[in-house]
Amino acid sequence: MSDIEDVADILRKARRVVVLSGAGLSAESGIATFRDKQVGLWERFDPAELASMTAWLEHPDVVWGWYAWRIGIVRQAKPHAGYAALSRWANHIAPQREQHLTFVTQNVDDLHERAGIVGSEDGHIEGPLHVHGALEAFRCSVCGTPFHGAVEVPDEPMEELEPPICPVCGERVRPGVVWFGEELPAATWNASVDAVTDADAVLVVGTSGLVYPAAMLPEVAAGLGKPCVEINPEPTAVSRFMEATVRLGAAEGLTALVSAIEG
Ligand code: OAD
Repeated sequence: MSDIEDVADILRKARRVVVLSGAGLSAESGIATFRDKQVGLWERFDPAELASMTAWLEHPDVVWGWYAWRIGIVRQAKPHAGYAALSRWANHIAPQREQHLTFVTQNVDDLHERAGIVGSEDGHIEGPLHVHGALEAFRCSVCGTPFHGAVEVPDEPMEELEPPICPVCGERVRPGVVWFGEELPAATWNASVDAVTDADAVLVVGTSGLVYPAAMLPEVAAGLGKPCVEINPEPTAVSRFMEATVRLGAAEGLTALVSAIEG
């Protein structure tokens, strides 16, 4: 284990940084990770099985019920202090230090955007590149037409809920996420690989490093000799590629890290 100063030192020296995040980044905003035990109605279900085309084809109302519940949680969640710290780094510290930050996230929530972490015209910030899609980028599951109708979510979780219907072809509307077994959005994925290839350092936050191909990114970076650093309370499958690790949650770890980078 290393301390914040080791991690800050590596990131301070880098001109181009990639911040790769996973579900753990949003955990302290109240959005459960994929490794947390599910509670209540969803206790019996494995999220990895619900997030699949097979589940959607067999039980669309169950899958939509689960996503409606998650959408409700995400709509109510607020970006925590760790997001605020990342936003401060990207919007205020990076321009002064002529740093370029690319945010690559496996998260399908919009907490980066709501924290003010969005691509900037002056090019200091790129992303967030949502390699697993975005929950509310709804589209028809058959003809692919984007769906912009209002999507209401129930106050209480419902085990089954009918998805909205596509006004173009009458088929079911699906969430804009990448399900297990589906391809990642090509342009977003290619941009993420390019960002890692061009980076001087990679900060990995809150990902188990178990889901490919996203989990390849730290390995690619390390293979190219780019220093990688990690903030995660637990060791992960990608910890072996790290030059320094901080075993803290994202809120505390990122707040301390950005203060240390600022100096
Ligand atoms: P996981 O749910 O696999 O892992 C969550 C990680 O967050 C673990 O390493 C935890 O130790 C860490 N963690 C927990 N609390 C944290 C905190 N407060 N601060 C920082 N880290 C914390 O999440 P991902 O790696 O994002 O894919 O999973 C990748 C993908 O698997 C997801 O995008 C999703 C899922 O199935 C799809 O939906 C395709």
